[in-house]
Amino acid sequence: RIVPVIMAGGKGTRLWPLSRSAAPKQFLQFLGDHSLFQKTLERVSDQERYTPAVVVTNAEFRFIVAEQARALEAPLSSILLEPIARNTAPALAAAAFVVLREHGDEAIMQVLASDHEIDAGAHYFDCIRIARETAKAGKLVTFGIKPTEPATGYGYIEMGDDLPTGAKTVARFVEKPDRERAEELLASGRYLWNSGMFMLPVGQFLAEILRYAPAVYDAAQRAIQGAKRDLDFDRLDEATFSQAPNISVDYAVFENTPHAAVVPSSFSWSDLGSWDSVWAIGEKDEAGNVVGQKATVNDTRNSLVLSRDIHIAVQGLDDVAVIASEDAVYVGRLEDSQNVGQIVKQLALSA
Ligand code: GDD
Ligand code: MG
Repeated sequence: RIVPVIMAGGKGTRLWPLSRSAAPKQFLQFLGDHSLFQKTLERVSDQERYTPAVVVTNAEFRFIVAEQARALEAPLSSILLEPIARNTAPALAAAAFVVLREHGDEAIMQVLASDHEIDAGAHYFDCIRIARETAKAGKLVTFGIKPTEPATGYGYIEMGDDLPTGAKTVARFVEKPDRERAEELLASGRYLWNSGMFMLPVGQFLAEILRYAPAVYDAAQRAIQGAKRDLDFDRLDEATFSQAPNISVDYAVFENTPHAAVVPSSFSWSDLGSWDSVWAIGEKDEAGNVVGQKATVNDTRNSLVLSRDIHIAVQGLDDVAVIASEDAVYVGRLEDSQNVGQIVKQLALSA
């Protein structure tokens, strides 16, 4: 069986004011009853295919994780807590040591981001099967999505040669290019977006961390050795984990390893990274508006209007996002959604 490893420690600042540092986007329900984290747990709930999941998250989020998993009655194998945020490479290295200890170095782990909206139909599980076969042959497998715009928030994967499983080798991996480079990569037609989900043979993955990010390997290994059990949680040792460099797995491993492969995938996938992507996947009225339960619109087109608590109404505006939480309201053009992080920075400076 595949061992699921769910990364749930990110901050998701571009979805302010609903995504907050105390409750970032993976734990929110945007549209529907379950949070993105809960939907991620549901994708790995088939016990014939998957073992119980390892969740790796920041210590601050431990009760949200435990509560949201309990609400689904989803069995977890462990909830690994980071004392301090060091990005995904140290988090995944630590999780890989847990998988190694419990399932041996031939184990295949599927790494899932907890902040994506994915249509997990038959084609998705075909991709999972191909990825698993490819990982068993020693490859570090990514899932590639056909790009539709020169986005700068994603990794880009250049497809190489065909592998017997139906996957392809990775000729090059470019994490978060600038706009100009992203336009070139898109125009070449040879690149796919990195979906942020991986299928990894655990022994091989740790070997690549050791080779390309030895300080990450060392800190994660010692933090696991010094980990302490606390209720249902495994707390990584703070003194050693905080020595890990702050780096994502994309920069630390995927830009460097010659063993990467990609499964070209066409399941519907959204990073839900910003308000325009929430609008894009939402159910629209005749005028193209996505309107939440506590909202009313009139003479308004192609807009996103969501509120958690108070009722909001929008009249006579087009192409806007109006988002209200208990204590803050955001109003902006949908096309400026990528810049919400700037406001969060300003707020952090003035707080
Ligand atoms: N445990 C833990 N600790 N999880 C983390 C941490 C951390 O320090 N930082 C981020 N995460 C989690 C996030 O909650 C999310 O589920 C996942 O790891 C990916 O992190 P993001 O911060 O959302 O990454 P990104 O979106 O900027 O970039 C990644 O995903 C893109 C697709 O959405 C990269 O893999 C890109 O290459 C990829 O295209
Ligand atoms: Mg993301």
